[in-house]
Amino acid sequence: MSKTISFHLQKGGVGKTTISGTLASQSALSGYSTLLVDVDPQGNASSWFYDGELQWELSDVLQGKCFIQEAIVEIATIPNLFMLPTFGIGGGLKQYAETKIADEPYVLQDLVKELSQSFDRIILDLSPGLGKLERSALIASDEIITPMTPEVFSLDGLEIFIDELEKIKKNLRSPVKHDKIIINSFDERIRQHKDIFEAALSGSFTVFKIPVDPVFRKSQERNIAPQLYKMRGRGLKPVTIEAIKTIDSSIWR
Ligand SMILES: Nc1ncnc2c1ncn2[C@@H]1O[C@H](COP(=O)(O)OP(=O)(O)OP(=O)(O)O)[C@@H](O)[C@H]1O
Ligand SMILES: [Mg+2]
Repeated sequence: MSKTISFHLQKGGVGKTTISGTLASQSALSGYSTLLVDVDPQGNASSWFYDGELQWELSDVLQGKCFIQEAIVEIATIPNLFMLPTFGIGGGLKQYAETKIADEPYVLQDLVKELSQSFDRIILDLSPGLGKLERSALIASDEIITPMTPEVFSLDGLEIFIDELEKIKKNLRSPVKHDKIIINSFDERIRQHKDIFEAALSGSFTVFKIPVDPVFRKSQERNIAPQLYKMRGRGLKPVTIEAIKTIDSSIWR
């Protein structure tokens, strides 16, 4: 059965796109047909994975301007990886979210339902914030996993998110799971990072860590998945590869 996951915290820059793109790549590399849906008007996931000219985007599909199949692009470097993109510049998703989505809160859920017939796994990359677009993506998910950076403001952000999610859950047509956290950009050598990890563990969440690794940024600059990045024979740190595999093997069950 197909599963849809969103990686979300309303806070900006915690690694939502990096984790969405990395885990979508990992899933595809494991042989599962995987779709990354760019639900962020910034279009970061799209510009990371797709270097060419795009004709259609998510907001066109949502408004019936094109067929779903016309907008989905294949990611050439990774077999089994597909994307439903959003244009960063000149795109229509921001305007759609501001003017139309209030009347259609289940539009993404309906779309995901249709997509789940064609893909084993779907990952939604969301924009920061908790507006109507993000809410509509959250209710379209089977599971929400929260990425956070190891800093106290992220812990505050998690509390706010849990509170907001309780309210969102009242509008759900089907249940959404939220029991995992990923502490991103983790550095074992920094005391504060360990303290934040301990604090996160004290809740009822399963807590994962992704180490700080410059290959994430470099792979985004090169338009490839981090798993494929190599510079003078070096790519992701072994500890990062291990973390990605651990998370990948836990989240799709
Ligand atoms: N584990 C990591 N190690 C090093 N750099 C990282 C790591 N994770 C993410 N980054 C870098 O941090 C920056 C922000 O990451 P990203 O864009 O994924 O965050 P985001 O939560 O999607 O941001 P936004 O809220 O704007 O959508 C990027 O430059 C990315 O390359
Ligand atoms: Mg992002």
